[in-house]
Amino acid sequence: MVSRIVTVEPFDIVVFGGTGDLAYRKLFPALFRRDADGQFTEPTRIVGISRKHMELDEFKQTIRDALTKYVAPPADQAQIIDRFLARVDYAAVDATGDDGWDKLQDHLSSDPNKIRAYYLATSPDLFGPIAAGLQKRGLVTPKSRIIVEKPIGKDGKSADAINDAIGAVFAENQIYRIDHYLGKETVQNLMALRFANALFEPIWNSAHIDHVQITAAESIGVAGRGPYYDGSGAIRDMVQNHLLQLLCLVAMEPPSSLDADAVRDEKLKVLKSLEPIRGDAVSNLTVRGQYRAGVSEGAAVPGYLEELGKPSSSTETFVALKISVGNWRFSGVPFYIRSGKRLPERVSEITIVFKPVPFSIFGTSMGQIPANRLVIRLQPDEGIKLWLMIKEPGPGGVRLQHVPLDMSFAATFDGHIPEAYERLLMDVIRGNATLFMRRDEVEAAWRFIDPIREQWAITNDQPRPYVAGTWGPVASIGLVERDGRTWNEDLA
Ligand code: BG6
Repeated sequence: MVSRIVTVEPFDIVVFGGTGDLAYRKLFPALFRRDADGQFTEPTRIVGISRKHMELDEFKQTIRDALTKYVAPPADQAQIIDRFLARVDYAAVDATGDDGWDKLQDHLSSDPNKIRAYYLATSPDLFGPIAAGLQKRGLVTPKSRIIVEKPIGKDGKSADAINDAIGAVFAENQIYRIDHYLGKETVQNLMALRFANALFEPIWNSAHIDHVQITAAESIGVAGRGPYYDGSGAIRDMVQNHLLQLLCLVAMEPPSSLDADAVRDEKLKVLKSLEPIRGDAVSNLTVRGQYRAGVSEGAAVPGYLEELGKPSSSTETFVALKISVGNWRFSGVPFYIRSGKRLPERVSEITIVFKPVPFSIFGTSMGQIPANRLVIRLQPDEGIKLWLMIKEPGPGGVRLQHVPLDMSFAATFDGHIPEAYERLLMDVIRGNATLFMRRDEVEAAWRFIDPIREQWAITNDQPRPYVAGTWGPVASIGLVERDGRTWNEDLA
């Protein structure tokens, strides 16, 4: 199946944090792939910004190296790389001072009517100063837009301050808050699965669904990002944004269209109906963990504290929660979610577990008939499995087996599955905000997370140790098993 390329208008994209890890690992590779596929029109330019003084050629060389490392373009793309690098400019700008802004003004002066995208791949405390700096130099045009990376703040209060500072310069419809999980093909596919198939909607409720599980597991540790991560922890790094967004897509009512506000209104309703976890409930409904030395993917790996080089830390590298959605559709259907570093493998998956058959006609010798499950594998090996019971072929009575109807993206569609950032960056240029978080969503997500963190602080809750390469603290298994359920056994 050949993907259709719809070209976008010429644009200037300015990447603050242009020599950072995100820019090299994700943003330049994503822009390169879109350019290589012929999606750009002329004249499109890319301006990298950082504090460092660097010659343009030197900057281009760093991008070339990053493309070699993260895209590995085939040898016949040498000319395409050159064409891409010819789009690149660089300016050393002091985001909080006055130096360098004139150079950025020069780079953007050729056409003030062109689409401008300011990508802030920086620490969130610079979001406000950069927005103000752009305004002060007259760089915010009607066709400008700003893209900010998570985390937006460390809690509801700091998120408000950041949103206020950006909002003082840009209108809400010019602000694109990235949650890159929403750009993943399989995540968007959740909407197709739910709303382009008549099959699921009638049973997508508490009458038929027993519970939902969402797992986002990573085998990597925090190496290289220790200082950021230690101030964040798994609940702010993954749950406040990615996992709650996934929960919203599973739980939301059908929006009236794919229009940005129609979708975001429905997600917001879900966030507002999450039953707060606060006070004594926190110790029952949440589990935090921190990895110790162990073995990951066949190699011995150090523990979190050794990686961090600190004698102690109460930051969690694993978190599991049992969440209740207080509305008609999902009341009584627990959502168990978990995310962690240094788990046995990198895998993100949503499992919808349906209710078991009310009565078995197959007699007791068959044991309990497992319930149907719909498993949406977000990464890797993207696909969808619907687990059903069938009769094992052959004579000698009826023996039942649980088998999957198995749809793999790789086997069904040819070619490269675009990275989330490819899709999201082009959506910004097209002005489509459906896959971005609106301010009120971010605020509602913090309102759910803040009381949990506050209670952890009040009770001085310490993360439970788990050995790297295992599925987190035993208590996280207990969180599900004490309800007579179990984490998806395909994984654990
Ligand atoms: C980021 C987190 O948002 O998502 C990282 O800050 C995490 O800690 C990453 O590793 C996971 O993204 P992906 O696309 O690899 O699942």
